[in-house]
Amino acid sequence: MAKQLKVVFFGDIVGRPGRRGVASIIPKIKEEFRPDLIIANVENSAHGKGVTDSTLADMVKAGVDVFTSGEHIHDKVREDAEVAAIFEKYPTLIKPANYSRDLPGRSELVIETLKGKVLVLNLVGQVFFRFSEFSPWTVLPQILERYEGEKLSAIILDFHAEATSEKVALGRHFDGQLSAVLGTHTHIPTADATILPKGTGYVTDVGMNGPYDSVLGMKSEVSINRFLTGEKLTYEIAETPEIWLNYVMLTIDIETKKTLSIQHEHEIIKL
Ligand SMILES: [Fe+2]
Ligand SMILES: [Fe+2]
Repeated sequence: MAKQLKVVFFGDIVGRPGRRGVASIIPKIKEEFRPDLIIANVENSAHGKGVTDSTLADMVKAGVDVFTSGEHIHDKVREDAEVAAIFEKYPTLIKPANYSRDLPGRSELVIETLKGKVLVLNLVGQVFFRFSEFSPWTVLPQILERYEGEKLSAIILDFHAEATSEKVALGRHFDGQLSAVLGTHTHIPTADATILPKGTGYVTDVGMNGPYDSVLGMKSEVSINRFLTGEKLTYEIAETPEIWLNYVMLTIDIETKKTLSIQHEHEIIKL
């Protein structure tokens, strides 16, 4: 049997409820699936926006190995020095490679696992999304070219984008060049987890890990009132006992780097 790498990927973790939910499910996943690598998108992990030292410490303690992000990554730490300090302290935190703001922070990561080296990448989309003037379509091939001679067991991309069309098109265009293209950002899981024809595991959006009784993790009444009144009311994290967990479990052939299986999990747990 081919040597297989097992990867778990959590979509956007939203605030404390999301962090607690992920921390509570990881022991069960470890026991049943025995992953070699756990990745999570943490762009909303600090009270819905960005990251802090303590939120990342929580997630390290919970067993997350690699942190991907998105347009909110620098929301909590705004000064360059603060951003640099966070990235220095958490060497497995990455930001989107085509993020426009010129701030410190690495945007690609090669991590050693028991099944060899895995390249983890993060990009943002451009459709209905104002955070990048750099096209993921041109940035991604440039990155992949740099790793051409390198012995890797898998390449995983977190594509943090709004439009389903942009995500599907990018996944299909780069099919066979990456082990998996996993969508994040919308917080709503899509029902299209699949293995594309040339072996790339794909899902348009993994969905969030956060309060279930909410609008994308935020208090429903605040979100609803923003629409009703047009006022820019401040979002608040919904603190509800039910937590929605959305993640994928992948097995990847480390010789071919192709995905052999992708399972998209959705659970509501009570904490
Ligand atoms: Fe998000
Ligand atoms: Fe986002």
